[in-house]
Amino acid sequence: MGKVEEFLKKSSIIMKKSLAGLDYDKFEKKFISFDYNELMNSVPYNINEIIKIQREFKVGGTPLYELKNINKIIKKLSKPGYGAKILLKDEANNASGSFKARRASLSIYHAKKLGYEGVVAETSGNYGAAVASQAAQMNLKAIIVQEVFDSKWIGQPEILEKGRACEAYGAEVWQMTVGPELFYMTLLILNETGYFNASLYTPYGVRGIETLGFEIANEVREKYGKYPDYVLVTHAGGGNVTGTKRGLIEGGAKDTKVIGVSVDLRGLHMASDRDFNRKSFTTGHTGFGVPFMVKPDRTDVPRNAARPLRYIDEYFIVSQGEVFYTTILLAQIEGIERGPAGNTSLAAAIPFATQLPEDKIIVVQETEYTGAGKHPFAQLSFAKKMDVEILRGDPKDNVPGKIIVIPDDISQLRYEKIPLEEIKKSYLKNAIQNLDEITKDDLKFLKEEINELESDFVERFLFEKGVKIYG
Ligand SMILES: Cc1ncc(COP(=O)(O)O)c(C=O)c1O
Repeated sequence: MGKVEEFLKKSSIIMKKSLAGLDYDKFEKKFISFDYNELMNSVPYNINEIIKIQREFKVGGTPLYELKNINKIIKKLSKPGYGAKILLKDEANNASGSFKARRASLSIYHAKKLGYEGVVAETSGNYGAAVASQAAQMNLKAIIVQEVFDSKWIGQPEILEKGRACEAYGAEVWQMTVGPELFYMTLLILNETGYFNASLYTPYGVRGIETLGFEIANEVREKYGKYPDYVLVTHAGGGNVTGTKRGLIEGGAKDTKVIGVSVDLRGLHMASDRDFNRKSFTTGHTGFGVPFMVKPDRTDVPRNAARPLRYIDEYFIVSQGEVFYTTILLAQIEGIERGPAGNTSLAAAIPFATQLPEDKIIVVQETEYTGAGKHPFAQLSFAKKMDVEILRGDPKDNVPGKIIVIPDDISQLRYEKIPLEEIKKSYLKNAIQNLDEITKDDLKFLKEEINELESDFVERFLFEKGVKIYG
């Protein structure tokens, strides 16, 4: 056995030490199930305590805007009696400029309380900046391990920007090439430093996002006398959907529908050296959105606290060009220049609103900061260098990695609804791999996992696959 393999064998011991004794084994059951509620409840803070902690570190309490000028256009594009109202939660106002501050704050607070000297996070995104910003405030060291370059050492402008932000907040940033070295390096650093693993996927991270859904439920009810009908959530690894929906429920908005929205990057392979730099979006895209739904435990912790299929009601996709168009629209008619992630769900919210009655309320639950490599022009110049064609016209001609089409007009914005049934079947297929029997507990778990408690969706699937249920 080589040195690397030998070291990787110790990964679960290193993980346990770096996760403040959070022992995932104690939640495990036979064969495929684990106690998800117990895992989430292992976080020793309730929603009011989480809000208090977050406010102390410049997180939460962000403004909720009615997008009046966009809403006027929606009314014009809709038939009489139609055209729902869009509200936008301006999460760019959190310290570090995105909702990821909610996710980082609780982890870093907990690490500080337990006496860790520093924190480590493996991320290419806003989460790194959020961890660095929270660690800076709590006087902890932060190490961010980022996947940045292809094998020619070319880096995507948005990822480079996020690395800059992490450094600005005082973090040490390790920049890696695409591939499995990211996990290996993170493990090595955790082992050598003994720092806290501020993974995106621990229950601390996901519980931290619940305040976003909770604020939305309360603010909309106070201002408009009812809960929102729909909350549109930019979706990648699933924490955003999971935490927001849990917070909505906690705030009383049990019937509000949560719609995940991703940028369409179908056909591009995230681990491919070539495709890595042929995408103009680094998160909120199908390259994360779908794999994390069908196999949520593909993470750096034994069980992912983000389990989007439990919480998502519908899934929409939009094209890259439509998000660029929406980014410029938001700046030029609403006067707020924001980054790509939140504008992904806004791009879908606009055409969606035209199809809904005028008394419906849609909340786009985040914005993110922008600047430098996050700007559409930086992305489009980079895409051109990577031989991607940029056109104006109808977004239906978009081909991920080959052609980006910027709409000529707002009326050309569309969204595609991806049926969740197929995604749920893929989830089940992965879950029962190599099994010909499961327990009754497993059955209940699977039904919860894909939110099919009332139907016989899971039973029918298991019957078709010849999997027996005993016990
Ligand atoms: C600003 C922003 N919005 C949305 C997302 C998607 O969140 P999740 O990965 O939890 O689905 C990300 C993740 O990188 C993000 O940085």
